[in-house]
Amino acid sequence: MKPEALAELARPEIRALKPYASARALADAAGILLNANESPWPPVGDGGMALNRYPDPQPAGLKSRLAELYDTRPENLLVTRGSDEGIDLLVRVFCRAGIDRVLICPPCFGMYALSAQVQGAGVAQAPLVATGDGFDLPADLVDKADGCRIAFLCSPNNPTGNTISVETVAALATAQQGTGLVVVDEAYVEFAPETSMIRLLAEHPNLVLLRTLSKAHALAGCRLGAVIADPVVIDLLRRIIAPYPLPTPTVSIALQVLNEDSLATERRQLAMLAAERDRVTGVLADSPGIVKVWPGAANFVLVRAADGPRLVRDAAAAGIRLRDQSAQPGLADCVRITIGTPEENNALIGFMQEWNS
Ligand SMILES: Cc1ncc(COP(=O)(O)O)c(C=O)c1O
Repeated sequence: MKPEALAELARPEIRALKPYASARALADAAGILLNANESPWPPVGDGGMALNRYPDPQPAGLKSRLAELYDTRPENLLVTRGSDEGIDLLVRVFCRAGIDRVLICPPCFGMYALSAQVQGAGVAQAPLVATGDGFDLPADLVDKADGCRIAFLCSPNNPTGNTISVETVAALATAQQGTGLVVVDEAYVEFAPETSMIRLLAEHPNLVLLRTLSKAHALAGCRLGAVIADPVVIDLLRRIIAPYPLPTPTVSIALQVLNEDSLATERRQLAMLAAERDRVTGVLADSPGIVKVWPGAANFVLVRAADGPRLVRDAAAAGIRLRDQSAQPGLADCVRITIGTPEENNALIGFMQEWNS
């Protein structure tokens, strides 16, 4: 696929836009800085961070570390304020209001449809199909995606926990070539790293992956994510992202969390979470009032309860917050339960053994 063909998928206004050039984008922060109307003095308590200065819009150190971790190149990355921002940028760049539509595969993460609605784009649906022990994409996915500017997939999927196959994504990206993007949201892929679609990126320029530091990397409070895509797509998204999206302290903390020592701790925690997920799954399956359990591949399990909304209410009264999924298509009475520390899971188990008995 030629770069021009990929760029032509974007809204004409965005392609024609002369992007805002911030002081820090025009010149790096070297020498005497009299180009950005900043204070010349750092604030009291700055701790050497130079918070009086605007941050690098896309810090090279963070990009190269993420590229290493994600097995890609810095030019394929845009660092964002969480995946939520990546989703929003993609919809705003590629979907014309009142004309284009996105495809979602519910039950799924709510921000794909919300971002489309905010942009005035349509939302087509290809609902997941319940198999005996999980959920799968429908057989007519390629037909349903036909004519959609962006098809949003998620693997492992929130809230069902199922993964999707490389073959399915490759077939969809091939079918959509020249007409639309296929976005695979890999927010939870660190819990099932072998399932990442990164290996497809070189062959499929219309494939986009979303990653986040909010889940396995434990940085939800930092608001950092990444869009991984062809440099043509990255360049288009950069045109509309805020001039200075990444606060200096956020970037500095992320670099600490992504060093080898911290990642070794994280690997131990991920192994513990997987073991805890199995333990919680076993107990839930035997709990009174639980009809079905889908353990999935991420850091949560989905259950169907005798009365899902009541389970959420009763758990809240006992000090335990769960997430009601009853409003999602096909998930009546379903509740998503995040795996916590062993102590938190013990509290959940204690509550569940009593609930509805
Ligand atoms: C599938 C999925 N994508 C994206 C997000 C948002 O991630 P972030 O915190 O990076 O905005 C979430 C958060 O729950 C999610 O479940």
